[in-house]
Amino acid sequence: MAQPLTIVIFGASGDLTWRKLIPALFNLAQKGKLPPEARIVGVARTPYSDDAYREELKPKVEEILPKGQFDAAKWAEFAARIHYVATDATKPGGCKPLAEWLAANEGSDDARRLYYFSMAPKYYAGISSAMAEEGLNKSDKGYRRLVIEKPFGVNLATAKALNDTMHKNWDESQLYRIDHYLGKDTVQNILVFRFANTLFEPLWNAQYIDHVQITVAEKVTVAGRGDYYDGSGVMRDMIQNHLLQILTMVAMEDPNRYSAENLRNEKMKVLSTVKVRSEAEAPKVMALGQYDGYLNVDGVKPDSKTPTYAAIKVELDSRRWYGVPFYLRSGKGLKARYSEVLIQFKCPARLMFPLPPGETLQCNRLRMVIQPNESISINFQTKVPDVDGVSLKPHDLTFDYKKAFSDQALPEAYERLLLDAIQGDASLFMRADEIERAWEIMDPLIAAAEHAAQQPEKYAVGSNGPGGADKLLDCWQPIG
Ligand code: BG6
Repeated sequence: MAQPLTIVIFGASGDLTWRKLIPALFNLAQKGKLPPEARIVGVARTPYSDDAYREELKPKVEEILPKGQFDAAKWAEFAARIHYVATDATKPGGCKPLAEWLAANEGSDDARRLYYFSMAPKYYAGISSAMAEEGLNKSDKGYRRLVIEKPFGVNLATAKALNDTMHKNWDESQLYRIDHYLGKDTVQNILVFRFANTLFEPLWNAQYIDHVQITVAEKVTVAGRGDYYDGSGVMRDMIQNHLLQILTMVAMEDPNRYSAENLRNEKMKVLSTVKVRSEAEAPKVMALGQYDGYLNVDGVKPDSKTPTYAAIKVELDSRRWYGVPFYLRSGKGLKARYSEVLIQFKCPARLMFPLPPGETLQCNRLRMVIQPNESISINFQTKVPDVDGVSLKPHDLTFDYKKAFSDQALPEAYERLLLDAIQGDASLFMRADEIERAWEIMDPLIAAAEHAAQQPEKYAVGSNGPGGADKLLDCWQPIG
């Protein structure tokens, strides 16, 4: 008989649980990927019976899943595997009811357990020690792993303190700090594209690449999340984690073997080569924006300087990337939901074809669209047929994920990450040192934003963002 497997979600009544975690587990179950012995236990303060909790989740999950994908019979089968323990796990002794539930229901002392912290970070320390009081962090037979949601700290000092706190009760190998961007197939494909092909890697360096643009644009605004967002802003919410993580995938060397430690060592090497700017230098490498109407959002301070858009220029002090700027930009309330990595290659050293007066050559571009309409396209020059002389026109050669894999929809990032954590593969999770280094890079930039004399430049909802971003780069790819 398989060892019992229990997935314990702390923060079971919160948004993330019903928006992402339960739908991901439900999808995995339907695809036959969730081990049949797996059971889910939600933990939160609100009193529910198992049945009441299942009923609470049902309409929410139905709404989240794409239309027509909710099968009530399959949900009923899956929901029978969901249980609920009501307790305030943040208080001393608060994990006792959970420990009792586990002892009574796992039926074996070799159970595997995946815990998930899906609530505000201020509770992490309290829950971690309440868990340790009951010995929930240790086992000689089955594993005990803990998945931790972002934000992991709000700056270097708090991230360090949190790592220290967590390490009191957990070994680093038990900790799975999630960055859901790494769970996206298109982000993982960056490594396959680079290292499972011969064509691109010889060009992937300062000799051939002019600059790199990494964009994560969102159409949604902050509405409904003002309280959290106003203390965070785009730099903490997106750039410190998702965008820097994508950067590591674009810039890293190939690990000698695909393993969690090797991969994370290489990512860490990239982060360690990022030049840390001082607060005084920040305005030269950063442009901020705030969408019109942000100040009216519930939970936002009326004179808030929190940026909802940021573009920053990042430089890497390595031989491969010396002199190649990486431009990162992300924002809310923009024209489209659109994420991509754009590699701008240098122009030919000399062009033998005369260009019409005033025209410049559009040099090769490679675009990896992370979402939506996931694709990779290479833009190159072609000869326009049947015209006098030689006339040039750029065209795209495109690989479209949905067309190429029409029978395999791209899974939700959380499906992959939950499965990896169950299986003990930490490759796509962040190590303590990566998180700390990312804060070290961001701290002076965030300080500059917070200490700025003025509010960030306004931009219209539905636009490309603030015009000030053009001072960093005049050839941004339009969003969408
Ligand atoms: C989260 C941020 O980490 O990522 C949100 O906290 C953001 O503010 C979200 O909306 C974007 O994720 P995705 O997968 O929808 O691009």
